[in-house]
Amino acid sequence: MAEKLRIGIIGCGGIAHSHMRAYQKMDDVEIVAGADIVPGKARAFLDEFGLNNVPAYESHVDMLEKVQMDAVSVCTYNTTHRVCAVDALRAGLDVLCEKPMSVTLEEAVEMTKVSKETGKILSIGFQPRYDPDMIMVRDLVRSGVLGEIYYVQTGGGRRRGIPGGTFIRKELAGVGCLADIGCYGLDMALNAIGYPKPLTVSAYASDRFGKNLKYCKEAEFFSVDDFSVALIRLEGGICMDFRMSWAMHMDTMGDTLFLGTEAGLKVKSPRLGEPWGGAWDGTIGPVYLYTDINGNHVETKVPLKAQPFDRFYAKVRDFVDAVKTGGPAPIPASQILYNQAIIDGIYRSSQSGREVELDIPEI
Ligand SMILES: NC(=O)c1ccc[n+]([C@@H]2O[C@H](COP(=O)([O-])OP(=O)(O)OC[C@H]3O[C@@H](n4cnc5c(N)ncnc54)[C@H](O)[C@@H]3O)[C@@H](O)[C@H]2O)c1
Repeated sequence: MAEKLRIGIIGCGGIAHSHMRAYQKMDDVEIVAGADIVPGKARAFLDEFGLNNVPAYESHVDMLEKVQMDAVSVCTYNTTHRVCAVDALRAGLDVLCEKPMSVTLEEAVEMTKVSKETGKILSIGFQPRYDPDMIMVRDLVRSGVLGEIYYVQTGGGRRRGIPGGTFIRKELAGVGCLADIGCYGLDMALNAIGYPKPLTVSAYASDRFGKNLKYCKEAEFFSVDDFSVALIRLEGGICMDFRMSWAMHMDTMGDTLFLGTEAGLKVKSPRLGEPWGGAWDGTIGPVYLYTDINGNHVETKVPLKAQPFDRFYAKVRDFVDAVKTGGPAPIPASQILYNQAIIDGIYRSSQSGREVELDIPEI
């Protein structure tokens, strides 16, 4: 490995800026290439960050062939995560891939298999995991204080928060709200309870707001979901109630709940009242623990740290450290495979109008 870790960025749109800003804060990292299929976009992106001598490509394959590097950030829209991540892994590079991992379970399986075969890191970009309050909730759930956990509700949802551009076009995003913010809710809840394997999904998804010009400026291009709910059975006798929306006539789809035999935990939806508030995609609202002491119903408000914290930098730094030390992946593909299996199951179940089984291969 060279003195500095050599990074390439594939996909030079919105979120690539956050990756670049994080990498540029690190003395032990250098950006050595960028690629975007839109002509001139990678060049303009690199120039914007003062990297005028760093080569830009219009194909990630060319970039991987021509430039010596150690790792890449995959910042493309969802439908091209698989091809970019797999090609980079096969080129011998470690990969930080943006969330959601992919669009389908099949793609996620291939990505996980190739990471295993090549021995290269494939980490998925869920920065909310680094939030100090999110860590506190996770640790509280994992501490055992709740007893046996049998029910989890992932709440949230925006009152008015339909994005535009590549997020709402099926051919580019693959899935909508479900994959944009739904994957965060799933990750935070599943990570807290140790990512048990999902078994079945019964779901409903719709697109009433996205297709309505009153709520979505680009309604004519809207071809994904804007709302979904699901009942998911998980290994270990746990049931998960999933709710997410990009737009609705309600302030929240409900709080996030963990019910156990000894206690329950409520994580209230954050930033209610703000148009884009309500979704559990990084920040959390007040947290309460419910239990029973000598027959008394006790409700305890758990103090939050609520301190400013650069979650995105922490995510990218953790990836860089994993690459430098030879792994493991901070947010491993083998785990996020379950997240993707649920998204795939929600999509299939809502299409077929029936409960579906999740057939997740051992990798
Ligand atoms: N972690 C976060 O906070 C966060 C926030 C926003 C978006 N995201 C995720 O990041 C991804 C990108 O989102 P965005 O807002 O930057 O989208 P965007 O549309 O602004 O940028 C995506 C870019 O990828 C390029 N691209 C697509 N396929 C390519 C390929 N094969 N090779 C090279 N370039 C390719 C597109 O031309 C586009 O410029 C999505 O998966 C999204 O879910 C994550």
